[in-house]
Amino acid sequence: MPNLVVKDLHASVDGTPILKGINLEVKEGEVNTIMGPNGSGKSTLAYILMGHPKYTIDKGQILIDGEDIAGLPADERAKRGLFLSFQYPQEISGVTVSNFLRTALSSVKNEKISVMDFKKLMDEKLDMLKMDHAFGRRYLNEGFSGGEKKKAEILQLAVIQPKIAILDETDSGTDVDALKIISNGINVVAKSQKMGILLITHYDRILQYIKTDHVHVLVDGKIVKSGGPELAKQVESEGYAPLRQ
Ligand SMILES: Nc1ncnc2c1ncn2[C@@H]1O[C@H](COP(=O)(O)OP(=O)(O)OP(=O)(O)O)[C@@H](O)[C@H]1O
Ligand SMILES: [Mg+2]
Repeated sequence: MPNLVVKDLHASVDGTPILKGINLEVKEGEVNTIMGPNGSGKSTLAYILMGHPKYTIDKGQILIDGEDIAGLPADERAKRGLFLSFQYPQEISGVTVSNFLRTALSSVKNEKISVMDFKKLMDEKLDMLKMDHAFGRRYLNEGFSGGEKKKAEILQLAVIQPKIAILDETDSGTDVDALKIISNGINVVAKSQKMGILLITHYDRILQYIKTDHVHVLVDGKIVKSGGPELAKQVESEGYAPLRQ
């Protein structure tokens, strides 16, 4: 059974319909990529899946392991294994990356984690992702470069270990080295931690490094075409025009 199933999802914001019948399945260990022009509804889909209160579901279902979570608040969805990385990560002053992640992990798992146990876990994940250990001691997003913020998100993913991760424009604002670290991180967590990944991106640049299983093109709130990695290449060379209906 797929971890995440979206059935005929219609959603609106402030009375404006944005999503117009989305059908989607994300299985564990698989990377599903959503591409689409600006304003097509990609971020809206991410926010709706995570339960952002600003958006309204008008119709349809969001199932995690068969359970419809459409009516649940964001924290309950996180407890059931959903993870959303934001397109514009927030700064939280006075909180280190490490402290933030320990709090987030104990909240999702509903149990306390000792500082010692958590340090072991962090060191293991930092090694797995080939990241500098000093990273954990920095204040969250404070003075982080765009690429560093994205790396912090991938670290968060490895530590929290959700069933499904929704990554919105994880590749934006990254240089080629950061892109490789991020892509490697996504490949590692998808395979070794059997995560289902929903990757939202504009360009096929990140797909040179990430092995995607499926590509879906979202135009005007609808998935107009699904296929394999070759679909991303087609979009890159021809643009979205041939796919608009
Ligand atoms: N409060 C709102 N009222 C009306 N329309 C809105 C509101 N918020 C968002 N929208 C519209 O919803 C549409 C989808 O926006 P969304 O952010 O999901 O697009 P996107 O595909 O993520 O775009 P991008 O590639 O630029 O990130 C846009 O046309 C946007 O203007
Ligand atoms: Mg967006």
